[in-house]
Amino acid sequence: MPSFPKPKIPDSIVPPPLRKPGKPGTGGTPKGQAPSDLKTAPPERQSHGDKLLERGKEAPIDALGWVDQRLAASGFLTGMLYRKVPKGTNWFYTLGSATLFAFIVQAVTGVFLAMYYTPSATQAYASIAHINNDVPLGQFVHGMHKWGASVMVILIFLHMGRTFFFGAYKYPRELNWVIGVVLLILTMTMAFTGYLLPFDQRSFWASIVGININGTGPVVGPYLSDFLRAGPELGATTLARFYAIHMLLVPGALIALIGAHMYLVVKLGTTAPPWVNAERPKGASPLAQLDAGANGNGRVNGNRVDGAPVSGEGTNGSAS
Ligand code: HEM
Repeated sequence: MPSFPKPKIPDSIVPPPLRKPGKPGTGGTPKGQAPSDLKTAPPERQSHGDKLLERGKEAPIDALGWVDQRLAASGFLTGMLYRKVPKGTNWFYTLGSATLFAFIVQAVTGVFLAMYYTPSATQAYASIAHINNDVPLGQFVHGMHKWGASVMVILIFLHMGRTFFFGAYKYPRELNWVIGVVLLILTMTMAFTGYLLPFDQRSFWASIVGININGTGPVVGPYLSDFLRAGPELGATTLARFYAIHMLLVPGALIALIGAHMYLVVKLGTTAPPWVNAERPKGASPLAQLDAGANGNGRVNGNRVDGAPVSGEGTNGSAS
């Protein structure tokens, strides 16, 4: 095949690391336009303004370095963000993060709604109407919070289904499953208590139905419905109680438990899908074989589950 002459690429558009060095012995500055990096004056010849600009560019990195020296956070963040994940990790593993994102959206939109909402039986409905009709972007934020609640409930169930069907509730992640169950109950509590807050006809009657359903539960059911109703009939005290549960009690518990849930995810790593065979090294101890987790060599996120010291070899069954 005939070879065509290659067109000459102008030196000025070739990035410095790829630029051909001058022929040895030719010396001096090459002919033509000087490369842009040589044009920059050395620091001793820079003007005061240039020096200030350079320092300005470095300032954010310097500030981060200053904070990091005092917090030693970069090691933690590197450990958290650059985790090894098991082979076969797929889109189903994003459901937990999607639930977390939905929670953050609920928290942020909830804060803005709280700035305008009045938790009073006589004013709640009007304050919601005010948010929807008069406050800039009020209807949008209210809509995000209202639909976001359903999104979070759907996502949490899908995430729970993923962890169940992938066997992620097994040793050593039972505690994270239990924390997850509490998170599910708290999320449902948020959805239920939030529903009454607009105090319109629909939320009023739906909450009576919900409270009565709670009352049918065994042993604690009647006590629970009495507690929720906060009186013989659903009224102003019920609204105040639901508001306190929705705004103060449950969000605090949710944040604390999500923190514990995430800590365990980072500490233990995630499980491989059940169809991925975790290879077991020859002569692995029975306890090490118990681990059905991030890798098949008896380690959970790099640490041996049987407490034995970790030798220098690479992790089996894990993709970096
Ligand atoms: C606010 C609710 C929740 C949030 C924000 C959340 C978040 C997460 C995240 C980000 C992960 C790691 C990535 C993943 O596997 O998807 C995870 C893992 C896990 N979650 Fe949740 N989760 C929540 C509720 C639940 C519930 C309701 C359960 C079960 C009852 C549960 C059980 C687990 C388990 C067992 C793991 C470990 C998965 C593995 O090792 O493969 N979580 N969660």
